[in-house]
Amino acid sequence: MINLPDSFIWGAATAAYQIEGGASEGGRTPSIWDTFSHTPGNVERGETGDVAADHYHRYEADLDLLADLGVDAYRLSISWSRVMPGGRGPLNPEGVDFYRRLLTGLRERGILPVVTLYHWDLPQELQDTGGWPERATAEAFADYARVMAREFGDLVHTWTTLNEPWCTAFVGYASGVHAPGITDAGAALAAAHHLNLAHGLATRTIREELGEDARISITLNLHVIDPADEDNSADLAAAEKASLVGNKIFLGPLLDGTYPTALLANTRHLTDWSFVRAGDLNITRTRLDVLGVNYYSTNTVRHAEGGGGKGVGEHSPWPGCEDVEFLAPTGPLTTMGWNIEPRGLYDLLTALDTAYEGLPLAVTENGAAFDDVVTADGRIHDERRVAYLKDHLAEISAAVADGADVRGYFVWSLLDNFEWSYGYAKRFGIVHVDYETQQRRLKDSALFYRGVIAEHHTRR
Ligand code: NOJ
Repeated sequence: MINLPDSFIWGAATAAYQIEGGASEGGRTPSIWDTFSHTPGNVERGETGDVAADHYHRYEADLDLLADLGVDAYRLSISWSRVMPGGRGPLNPEGVDFYRRLLTGLRERGILPVVTLYHWDLPQELQDTGGWPERATAEAFADYARVMAREFGDLVHTWTTLNEPWCTAFVGYASGVHAPGITDAGAALAAAHHLNLAHGLATRTIREELGEDARISITLNLHVIDPADEDNSADLAAAEKASLVGNKIFLGPLLDGTYPTALLANTRHLTDWSFVRAGDLNITRTRLDVLGVNYYSTNTVRHAEGGGGKGVGEHSPWPGCEDVEFLAPTGPLTTMGWNIEPRGLYDLLTALDTAYEGLPLAVTENGAAFDDVVTADGRIHDERRVAYLKDHLAEISAAVADGADVRGYFVWSLLDNFEWSYGYAKRFGIVHVDYETQQRRLKDSALFYRGVIAEHHTRR
């Protein structure tokens, strides 16, 4: 049953590169995703975010969609290279103006803006000087965060520093499936540290600008990792090992002020960790007003010498997990090939609540890609997505009933969009986008979600 507190924040989420388009308009300069998607072989069918859902031109209509759905909040991201071309230095007034209009439009509709500062689109110039494996990138990010706080502090409700730094570090720099497409596990571990540092430094600069009350979060894709055989100690150890590089590599420095010794030991053959300087872990550990959690599916692992982590044979995004094998998902799958396991969300939220008592949580992404069809009635009867959302919301309700402090939920995604290396074929939206005409159509899941929100709102 879906039953969430009256104060619960109902939202929808998107990210700049996935929806905006207008890639070379209004003074925006290329990010690593422009470079990567324009390089043949990186994205299916050679698709790019050049046009995407054309939100750059259609944002007013999209804001009306949000208002029609009745959401309390909208999670969006700022394209760094749109507001600060090249990643450093003077602002681009046209880019700043775009986000000011967008954020103002949200406020005018009574919708709270939850703004992610980094959703994977690093200005290309910062990659040219080394990207996230370099400490200077974290410093540049803190400067950018300061300027964003100064420009938009009056409009933003919650600042999210980074979206899924695990993907930035390990899919961007270890497996190379995401931009910038680098395959160097040692560099990926350095990137992870500099992302933690970037979060800490940006938290400081935002609070320097806006005061201690500025609400700050980070969004992590924490992995639920189950052992194939719960009674097998080697499988249990494999799950624990994967969780070090999947979860603790961020939770440790952000919430405990430390990297687990076992993580350092397991990855010592890849890097000496000398990029962690004295004092860094005092910077990474700061007051988090809310921890954002993105959740889609679960993982099952077993111990296997030469298992190689997920993506064996290519380059694994799981450094130090050479003897861990990720099993192929079973049961019902989405078109991403991900298993549907709502209980994993309950487990994740309650485990976080146990480990970090009193930590406010929000589900900042949850949703599913299915092969949607527009039927003769002009509708999209996406009943599997409706079921997915319903079941996950029920598990959040159960976690809240059992004491987890979950403050809100953001469906991924408002719109069908550019699903990174998969391009446009994977549709996560609750609103369908016809990429030929850019027409938006509410799917049945949007109608369902609107109903759930309305029901909760009437109780307020
Ligand atoms: C996580 C990412 O933050 C988002 O950009 C992506 O589209 C979804 N997961 C679905 O893969």
